[in-house]
Amino acid sequence: MGKQKFDGYADKYDEWFMKNENLFTSELRLFEKVLGDISGKKLLSVGCGSGLFESYIDSSNIDGIEPSEDMGRIAEKRGVKVIKYGLIEDVDLKDESYDIIYFNGSSSYMEDLVPVYEKCLKAIKKNGKLILLDVPKESAFGFMYLLGKSLNTYDHEYLEGAMPELPYPLALASSGVWHTTEEKINVLKDLGIKNFKFYQTLIKNPMYTNEEPEEVSEGYKSGGYVAIIAEK
Ligand SMILES: C[S@@+](CC[C@H](N)C(=O)[O-])C[C@H]1O[C@@H](n2cnc3c(N)ncnc32)[C@H](O)[C@@H]1O
Repeated sequence: MGKQKFDGYADKYDEWFMKNENLFTSELRLFEKVLGDISGKKLLSVGCGSGLFESYIDSSNIDGIEPSEDMGRIAEKRGVKVIKYGLIEDVDLKDESYDIIYFNGSSSYMEDLVPVYEKCLKAIKKNGKLILLDVPKESAFGFMYLLGKSLNTYDHEYLEGAMPELPYPLALASSGVWHTTEEKINVLKDLGIKNFKFYQTLIKNPMYTNEEPEEVSEGYKSGGYVAIIAEK
């Protein structure tokens, strides 16, 4: 495979979360809350990256798919079983083989979500869950990333005094395909999903999100990091 969006960013990605420790804790709380009790369950992490979040939970039953070798090799060291170095679009998954398939931040790097979610829903057991965690396009973080992308810098007079101290790397914000939460809900509804739950965190404006860890709350209309739980 050619160069992937996250190649060369494995260290920067982890380092950004470690420097934004409270923001990371808020996202980790959301991640743990929506996965719930995973003991005895079989999970697939689509776009598992470096397995940073998985390194805080029992990753022994977690398979991963990851196009960036830089990221995936670290995930393997952290206990995720990378079953394929490639794009989810190019992978065959066995029907009804997982209890939970989740995308932690990875839908935001995919153009066409329909075939991807359709494939994953087939691979989930009956009553299993598809869990999508992302920065919503309509959130303050989404606006910030899209503005940075269109200006090709965060260092612009429009953003003066309004930016967090250590913003997400511009190259990763710019390569994102930021989707709204409702866009993803509508894709899932069209694929036959009826049961949804929503949780969110990073409610504060981006400038202040790293001041202290935030709690998880229900809903999706305020957070800078939002989880959709879709039950098959
Ligand atoms: C924001 S990172 C999230 C990584 C990890 N899930 C985490 O939470 O730390 C997005 C990840 O999705 C991966 N990705 C991008 N496009 C993908 C695709 N089409 N199929 C699978 N993974 C993809 C990227 O390589 C990257 O590792």
